[in-house]
Amino acid sequence: MQNGIILRIAQQNDAPSVAKIEAECFSDAWSEKSLAEQIDGKMHLTVVAECDGEVVGYVSGQLIPPECEVFRVATLSAFRRKGIAEAMLTYFENTADGVAKNTFFIEVREANTAARSLYRKCGYEEIAVRKNYYKNPCENAIILKKAPRDIC
Ligand SMILES: CC(C)(COP(=O)(O)OP(=O)(O)OC[C@H]1O[C@@H](n2cnc3c(N)ncnc32)[C@H](O)[C@@H]1OP(=O)(O)O)[C@@H](O)C(=O)NCCC(=O)NCCS
Repeated sequence: MQNGIILRIAQQNDAPSVAKIEAECFSDAWSEKSLAEQIDGKMHLTVVAECDGEVVGYVSGQLIPPECEVFRVATLSAFRRKGIAEAMLTYFENTADGVAKNTFFIEVREANTAARSLYRKCGYEEIAVRKNYYKNPCENAIILKKAPRDIC
């Protein structure tokens, strides 16, 4: 990964930066309020990547051991293809596993080849297709799973 990137658990004052990334990366962006609630949530985990004091990526999810659902993985476009998402996801998994060994689940749009390739590289297996799951645009969802002990 690029030098100078710091990975850490998000704090409440990261919510505006996470909301900015969310708005850049997703057509169905969550509000800053709901992202702030996730950052504070007991069953939630949000990890951020920081470069020169700027939050440039994040991973969020819900942890209900022995399962963890990854909601979002996002890197600002100017910082992509530098290994940041891969590093954040690994950090997220290792932090979640501080609580218990978990099985991780992710769902992703079928046409999102960048994310599908990231998840495959990180050891996720595509286990199911949910037909027409997403709206705007309508698209299938691919469900991915990473079993406990596969954590790198
Ligand atoms: C998907 C996304 C998170 C990847 O972030 P990133 O920081 O650029 O990813 P990394 O640099 O860590 O890439 C790790 C691996 O993922 C794969 N990958 C990442 N971007 C890719 C792309 N555009 N095309 C093909 N493979 C890609 C590659 O295997 C890559 O390894 P490599 O560089 O050694 O080939 C980023 O493109 C993004 O934020 N997209 C918009 C949000 C989104 O769709 N999130 C996923 C659904 S929640």
